[in-house]
Amino acid sequence: MRSVTVQIPDVKWADVGGLASVKEKLQEAVIWPLKHAALFKEADVNPPRGILLTGPPGTGKTLLAKALANESNVNFISIKGPSLVSKYVGESEKAIRNIFTQARQAAPCIIFFDEIDAIAPRRDGTDSNFSDRLVAQLLTEMDGVDDLKGVLILAATNRPEAIDKALLRSGRFDEIIDIPNPDVDSRLSILKVHTQNKPVAENVDLAKLAILTEGMSGAELEAACRQAAMMAVRRMVGNSESESDCSVTQHDLMRAINECRTMTGKEPIADSRPKVLVVDDEKDILSLVCKVLTRNGYEGVPTDDPQEAIERIRNEYFDVAVLDIHLPGTDGVELLKDIKVVQPHLGVVMVTADADVQFAVDSLKAGANDYILKPFDLNTLMTSVQDAFKMARKSKKGDEVEAEGLAEAGK
Ligand SMILES: Nc1ncnc2c1ncn2[C@@H]1O[C@H](COP(=O)(O)OP(=O)(O)O)[C@@H](O)[C@H]1O
Ligand SMILES: [Mg+2]
Repeated sequence: MRSVTVQIPDVKWADVGGLASVKEKLQEAVIWPLKHAALFKEADVNPPRGILLTGPPGTGKTLLAKALANESNVNFISIKGPSLVSKYVGESEKAIRNIFTQARQAAPCIIFFDEIDAIAPRRDGTDSNFSDRLVAQLLTEMDGVDDLKGVLILAATNRPEAIDKALLRSGRFDEIIDIPNPDVDSRLSILKVHTQNKPVAENVDLAKLAILTEGMSGAELEAACRQAAMMAVRRMVGNSESESDCSVTQHDLMRAINECRTMTGKEPIADSRPKVLVVDDEKDILSLVCKVLTRNGYEGVPTDDPQEAIERIRNEYFDVAVLDIHLPGTDGVELLKDIKVVQPHLGVVMVTADADVQFAVDSLKAGANDYILKPFDLNTLMTSVQDAFKMARKSKKGDEVEAEGLAEAGK
């Protein structure tokens, strides 16, 4: 029988976007017990025997296991469930025994069963006893307590409900780590990972894409980034003049994301016009401002309710907000402060219908720091919105650079 190979994949922690708490948990549950076995013994802590990663397809389970193998510097045996079943038909039990023997010899060692549902499907009595025997063998090996010093079993599945329940009993896979589809921060990290080596254009706003890509998995985001780069390449090949400055634009990314979303039956994301929230208690002004914005290539979203404004800013992406300083209930300044808590980088234009600019300046000094203030004037409104837009971009970029700097310094 072909022997199992011990390998070290080429994936780093930094290649896994987001999932900070999962990485931390894995470090504690996998790397510490293998590297500091004596310490665990002294503290009388039993490290988990097995860890099961669950979650929808494409959320980075396989990727995490590879990164873990690479960063932990311990030996790593990777087994793909379906291939074990097909390759060794009739001999799979022997193969499992063989894997554990090799792991013991290579300790400290991680055995990774990817797509474990193929090896250990739920025994319901009606199935062929082929898989029953496989599960039984796996259980026997995992229960060999003393023999398994320095061997940790990691597994992944998209279908935790399909694996045999006996595997989840204590002393077997006693730690289950669920990896859900990425939230907005994780999506931003994933987009960064998959664009960092690509020539992205100035206008690319990953933070905005992260918000718009709700519901997409890491694998889908990766595919979209790759397709966007292909679009840029095609454009360059079609244009015989220069092949030197190929760049991936926001539009390429939007298109690629939408192709991806259409393929997986999701609504395409909205157009890429900068979006402006307009808050004013006067209906005429609201519709007028939105009209001016539309004419200038922006999308204006009107509301006369400050509470609704905050809710929308929490849940939707806006580039700029235009606020009336005199709002009934909460005034514009209060609203501005609330906005800065929810969306620190949102560009804000304060407008006032009267000439009481001094009042506004005084109130603003009390808290907010990046804002543009103009007596209400439709002629200068667009310039203010554009300035606020640029200012917001800059502050967002500045923050990203700072965060990267910190991450770099922390290494
Ligand atoms: N958190 C993530 N960070 C970066 N890339 C990711 C992430 N999640 C998924 N991907 C991308 O999607 C691909 C497939 O992910 P994979 O780990 O195979 O998903 P799973 O095993 O959960 O089905 C990865 O190779 C990677 O390119
Ligand atoms: Mg996988």
